[in-house]
Amino acid sequence: MEERARSCLLRSKDTLEQDIKASYLMDHMVSDDILTNDEEARVLGKPTRREQATALLEVLLRKDNRAYISFYNALVRESYGDLANLLHSDLPLLSPEGERSFADGVSPSVQAILSEGGVPQRPVVFVSRPTLLNLVREKLYWLKNTPGWVTVFGMAGSGKSVMAAEAVRDHALIKECFPGGVHWLSVGQCERTDLLVRMQSLCFRLEQGQSSDASLRPPCSDMISVHFIYTEHVRPLIIRPFLLSFSSIRSLLILDDVWDSFALRSFDIQCRVLLTTRNRSLADSVSGTRFEVPVESGLDEEKALEILALYVNGKPQKLPQLHRMVIPRLDLVPACSPLVVSLIGALLREFPDRWSYYLRQLQKKQFKRIRKSSSYDYEALDQAMDASLQVLEPEHRDLYRDLSVMQKDIKVPAKVLSVLWGLELEEVEDILQEFVNKSLLFRDCNQRPYHYYLHDLQLDFLCSWLCLSPCVQRFTDRP
Ligand SMILES: Nc1ncnc2c1ncn2[C@@H]1O[C@H](COP(=O)(O)OP(=O)(O)O)[C@@H](O)[C@H]1O
Ligand SMILES: [Mg+2]
Repeated sequence: MEERARSCLLRSKDTLEQDIKASYLMDHMVSDDILTNDEEARVLGKPTRREQATALLEVLLRKDNRAYISFYNALVRESYGDLANLLHSDLPLLSPEGERSFADGVSPSVQAILSEGGVPQRPVVFVSRPTLLNLVREKLYWLKNTPGWVTVFGMAGSGKSVMAAEAVRDHALIKECFPGGVHWLSVGQCERTDLLVRMQSLCFRLEQGQSSDASLRPPCSDMISVHFIYTEHVRPLIIRPFLLSFSSIRSLLILDDVWDSFALRSFDIQCRVLLTTRNRSLADSVSGTRFEVPVESGLDEEKALEILALYVNGKPQKLPQLHRMVIPRLDLVPACSPLVVSLIGALLREFPDRWSYYLRQLQKKQFKRIRKSSSYDYEALDQAMDASLQVLEPEHRDLYRDLSVMQKDIKVPAKVLSVLWGLELEEVEDILQEFVNKSLLFRDCNQRPYHYYLHDLQLDFLCSWLCLSPCVQRFTDRP
């Protein structure tokens, strides 16, 4: 579906969900061959009218222009005239021109804005994740009229940075919500002084003037040119007024891979910020409207296969049957982080004969053996995991290591860990909360009391620390 139509659906989502009766509309859409009977049944399986409406819109957002038009026609036929009017101005053309105009979702003018703002390109091998993408864009639309924060959080390699960059590849979103442009700042685990230097270069970049309209440009050239002679204490004070004027021009700032709330507090002056982080609670330290998008689920089997096929064949073609059988057999699905799959894909392209070797490693869950220097900041998975661990307090790091006694696919309540650690239940719950917030542990909220579990990647990583932890040796004889 072209971006304009998709954005219109996202904008009108709340109103549509409030009013429509999905079953009436779906009759028309099934007879237009837009929806399958299975999809209709899945939507009708939702318990309430509103949930059915939400489910229908989710299905619709994954479809093409014809689906938008069929939905529009169904609204007209079912006398939802007001709602049809909301969609009317963004009806896509069905001519080849209409289909082509936003074929890759990015118009040339948006492409120019994004490259000026330093937003990274798509990875060469890229698969879409529509549900997640829609979620991030939906939150970004909230920043149209109000400054605020959208936090995209999840574990290392779950695809947060790729998703943040993809979310802003949207003509309507940028024109409507961020006319002042989009600016990308890679934060990472840098020192405060480094961060200030990076903020300065951001200021310079802005000063070069992305906007041809001088009235949109912050008036700061003198201020910036004297930046470098000031000490660390004074620098933030100088940058601050600059950022204030930046916030008034409705730009979006993307802070990628933030570890420390210090980085956020510098921007806590009514800016519009999208941040990616492993630490869910980071934005608690700033004021203003906040939204969150978890990147929890890995890739499903089809997407994982698509990535492998793109690497191996150069096109999203089906892999040979032998290879297709591999993924389900490996029970890879829970571990299908985009990073893992991309690393395997890159390795297979280089060493096509090693399918069975890598598959054996995967079967043994030896993820850390799957090394490959890639465009990813952390060269190997264990380094990425290690980076997460290093920011824990030393005592908490030791406790975290003890979690290697947990078995794959087994979820445990806090009480079990309170026995393991010999700590009060409440204290244990607080510690586990911190691990969850830092994307080092998962929590199943469907069970009461909550149950906790590790991702296969985390468990594999932890097992390599096993012999270092005396507590664990007492509790397990696993190798
Ligand atoms: N949608 C995607 N399609 C293909 N590969 C992806 C996708 N998202 C992530 N990847 C792969 O996973 C790697 C890690 O993604 P990234 O967004 O940097 O993770 P995070 O920011 O969560 O640590 C990327 O370098 C890329 O190879
Ligand atoms: Mg990242």
